[in-house]
Amino acid sequence: MDWRSDAERNRVAWTKANAEHTDGSALAQWRSEPHWGVWRIPEVELGVFGDVSGLDVVELGCGTAYVSAWLARLGARPTGVDITGAQLDSARRCMRETGIEFPLVEADAGATGLPDASADLVISEFGASIWVDPYRWIPEAARLLRPEGRLLFLCTSVLAVLCTPEGSGSTAAALGRPMRGLHRLDWGEEGVEFTLPHGERIDLLRANGFDLERLVELYAPAGAVDHEYYDFVPAWWARDWAAEEIWVARKR
Ligand SMILES: C[S@@+](CC[C@H](N)C(=O)[O-])C[C@H]1O[C@@H](n2cnc3c(N)ncnc32)[C@H](O)[C@@H]1O
Repeated sequence: MDWRSDAERNRVAWTKANAEHTDGSALAQWRSEPHWGVWRIPEVELGVFGDVSGLDVVELGCGTAYVSAWLARLGARPTGVDITGAQLDSARRCMRETGIEFPLVEADAGATGLPDASADLVISEFGASIWVDPYRWIPEAARLLRPEGRLLFLCTSVLAVLCTPEGSGSTAAALGRPMRGLHRLDWGEEGVEFTLPHGERIDLLRANGFDLERLVELYAPAGAVDHEYYDFVPAWWARDWAAEEIWVARKR
């Protein structure tokens, strides 16, 4: 399958999602404190960013670019990359509203066109980390990073994907699809996502020169309620099973 047709389907899906949800929520996200995932676990609790002051950062699949905005507020120099023009338009509007400015590049996250070894941190928050084939975007992240640079990404947990049967919009308390061969997830009009079983993901990271430093599993806190838009993993499920994963790897 040619990656361009999946990328185009995802661009169309994210143009629609921008009109339905992300444009409206972008500014509040830009202004909020850094947090992770659907249940907004505060970064101060998890401490995954570390000291980002003075770092060159590339965000792959930045969407409305609020993660880059948080990093800019913390003293980093981000560049946001996204394939969907409408998402970048929302980011530009938020720049005008907040006065926080940084470069945005409209490009595929697997072929950014940015220079080799130009970043100290490559980050993706449900961007390239789930919408682009890891066999394309992880090598691109490795190319962009300087030695000792970090790769940090948030994605849906493998367990949540395994408990979401093909064709279903909801995660259940039962295995719903095989783990063997897990890779490309076709959600129809909602686009095409990608994931990998943990062992294969670690092998891919190592083959691209990364050492894994952390794998942080995110649960819904007690009292959490379903997200108004990202509701495919219900809060009751995510209180007992980690629905999201943050990966932190360092380039050798
Ligand atoms: C969940 S959103 C991004 C998350 C971001 N933190 C936000 O919510 O604004 C996913 C983003 O991935 C982008 N995306 C999908 N496929 C892409 C690709 N091939 N290259 C770059 N970006 C892509 C979409 O355009 C979308 O903006």
